Amino acid sequence: MNSDHKSPAAPCSAELLLRLKEAGRIVVFTGAGISAESGVPTFRGENGLWKKFRPEELANIDAFMRNPDLVWQWYQHRKEVISSVRPNAGHDAIAAMDQRYPSCIVVTQNIDDLHRRAGSRTVHELHGNIERNYCMTCRRPATPEEIAGQTKAPLCVACGGLVRPDVVWFGELLPEEEWNASVEAATAADVFFAVGTSSVVYPAASLPTDARRAGAYLVEVNIERTDLSPMADEVLLGKAGEVLPALLAYVEH
Ligand code: OAD
Repeated sequence: MNSDHKSPAAPCSAELLLRLKEAGRIVVFTGAGISAESGVPTFRGENGLWKKFRPEELANIDAFMRNPDLVWQWYQHRKEVISSVRPNAGHDAIAAMDQRYPSCIVVTQNIDDLHRRAGSRTVHELHGNIERNYCMTCRRPATPEEIAGQTKAPLCVACGGLVRPDVVWFGELLPEEEWNASVEAATAADVFFAVGTSSVVYPAASLPTDARRAGAYLVEVNIERTDLSPMADEVLLGKAGEVLPALLAYVEH
């Protein structure tokens, strides 16, 4: 039965506590909400990026071809924001699970690298990474030195093609290896956490329900209920940076 866990005495149900004590394989699937407490804006919701900017003007290949410099500058701006922030208690708790469990795989829709910076060792980035860039013509990765300080979309030093951020835009396929590894991890998980995601962008959003169908106990962590909530075994309402450390401390108690 699906339940929202709100007991003041314990941060989760007895069922989840038992599952977490016995689990060998944990998967943590994250979205922009996990980085919100670090100061990285989310996409949807009141102060979300998509309230201020139109995704069709910034996050797809046609937009980039139409106005490469505008899209480039937007990603440079986001990169500056991301490089000025630090992982928060939520990222840290997930990295701590990496130490506690035989397998703790992070599958993230975020491009901010904060899970790795917090110490998580296996991180599948479904939507790319803002630190990487590559040439659209010859696919050569651009080095950080080549793109440093570029205020306009740079040209490839090898072939003169346009260099773009290595992120997934709307309408593009997810990186195949990362996706296959994520599906494999999800369908082998004992406990699957969906943390800080509105769970509306597919195919990533299919992972929690795929995991549950394959036998995982599905736990959602979010400040509010989402479209995924009715499918979850348990919904932990609250900030990831508060809920996850409390949960971990409770399991280790
Ligand atoms: P969204 O902005 O759609 O959702 C963020 C979720 O985090 C919401 O459900 C919030 O309620 C929740 N949230 C906010 N603060 C939180 C906190 N402190 N603790 C826990 N939850 C919190 O972001 P995503 O689901 O990541 O794709 O969006 C998915 C994709 O849509 C992104 O990867 C991006 C975007 O368009 C592309 O750009 C391709």
